[in-house]
Amino acid sequence: MYGDGRVTTGEEGSGRGRLVGRRVLLVVSGGIAAYKAAELVRRFRGEGAEVRVVATAGALRFVGAATFQALSGNRVRHDLWDEEAEAAMGHIELARWAEVVVAAPASAHLLARLAHGLADDLPTTLVLATEAPLLLVPAMNRVMWAHPATRANVALLRARGAVVLEPEEGEQACGESGPGRLPETPIVVGAVLSLLRPGSGKDALPAVLAGRRVVVTAGPTREPLDAVRYIGNRSSGRMGYAVARAARRAGAEVVLVSGPVALDSPAGVRAIRVETALEMREAALAAARGADLFVAVAAVADYRPARRETGKPAKDPKGALLALVPNPDVVAEVARLDPRPFVVGFAAETGDLEEHCRSKLERKGLDMIAGNLVGPDRGFDTEENALHVFWRGGEARLGPAPKDELARRLVALVARRLAGEEGS
Ligand SMILES: Cc1cc2nc3c(=O)[nH]c(=O)nc-3n(C[C@H](O)[C@H](O)[C@H](O)COP(=O)(O)O)c2cc1C
Repeated sequence: MYGDGRVTTGEEGSGRGRLVGRRVLLVVSGGIAAYKAAELVRRFRGEGAEVRVVATAGALRFVGAATFQALSGNRVRHDLWDEEAEAAMGHIELARWAEVVVAAPASAHLLARLAHGLADDLPTTLVLATEAPLLLVPAMNRVMWAHPATRANVALLRARGAVVLEPEEGEQACGESGPGRLPETPIVVGAVLSLLRPGSGKDALPAVLAGRRVVVTAGPTREPLDAVRYIGNRSSGRMGYAVARAARRAGAEVVLVSGPVALDSPAGVRAIRVETALEMREAALAAARGADLFVAVAAVADYRPARRETGKPAKDPKGALLALVPNPDVVAEVARLDPRPFVVGFAAETGDLEEHCRSKLERKGLDMIAGNLVGPDRGFDTEENALHVFWRGGEARLGPAPKDELARRLVALVARRLAGEEGS
């Protein structure tokens, strides 16, 4: 077991001393980025942590034990059959000692061994024997990272509660370019802080989206009729903001594209404010490119006035006819991107919830849809809500519950589906 993996957002605050007295066990495996693990040891110690390094045999082909020993101030362990250390069951002692186990770089080989519960050397044996949370920081050639075997191993590890950071894109040591580089040191330190700082009570959420890029849309749109009037809807933005907050607390990097609402932007989330459906479309599509997950909670107006009058036309006593044109379907467009994120839609319905949701799921090419019944006292502009979530071959009912609680349950469900899709 990998511990409960509970985190808060993690990287708030900065400077030294954030890990004073904490016990970090660093597993270094055999990748070209092993030299960057030396910098990690320095940073953990600079933050006040006690660091012990365990290296695979492969790691020691890249960086000598003396480097890690000098930087950590502790003997580097690499041999499961070290008679002196094992006289006192050294691997179990290390597994118990750790408050967090960080594998950086985590090679494709290490991920495979951990996913399958192998225990054929000291690092893998102690990961099996520890109850501390596990942070994996993979680094490898982009093709190795994209290989179905690696994808399946990562999905399995995530599903079991390990936090796996996404590698960064860029030039690789092998001369190729793409995702596979070890994330920058502050990102790894931030993730460790997250794992060591469990959220208090109701704010606790497993770091199921650590390293993921998530886009959430929220709120209504306003479709201007003239300089002062518009067509709007009753969306308050509360559900979308709750989803953005929950995704952030689950460790994701979150962009929130929000229509006009009376809510403060959630901490740690990049908020983009828009007004009309066309603005929402432009911002959402730009943010969705390269994202892992897109959650469309916004109530985007289906139509906009065919023309926008200038100024403020006077009231016509004979009345007025309004011509409307359809707006683009933002979530369906995101679902057509290639490559595309995992796409979750929301549907507010007044009846036949399942039939409408299932048909929207197919028609718009979504991965999941969260339906809710709306009426005078539920759905929009309320504190509580209930969701009926559908995907191909499954469904789940969430709530009734306050929107923050509902968002947490939805994020946990989406993360499980997301990991499952990647593993299949
Ligand atoms: C020069 C060189 C560079 C390598 N770089 C990586 C790498 O960045 N990531 C990776 O997963 N494997 C890399 N490998 C392959 C691993 O070293 C190999 O799979 C090894 O079995 C890993 O064992 P370990 O995980 O037990 O350390 C590299 C191999 C060589 C020879």
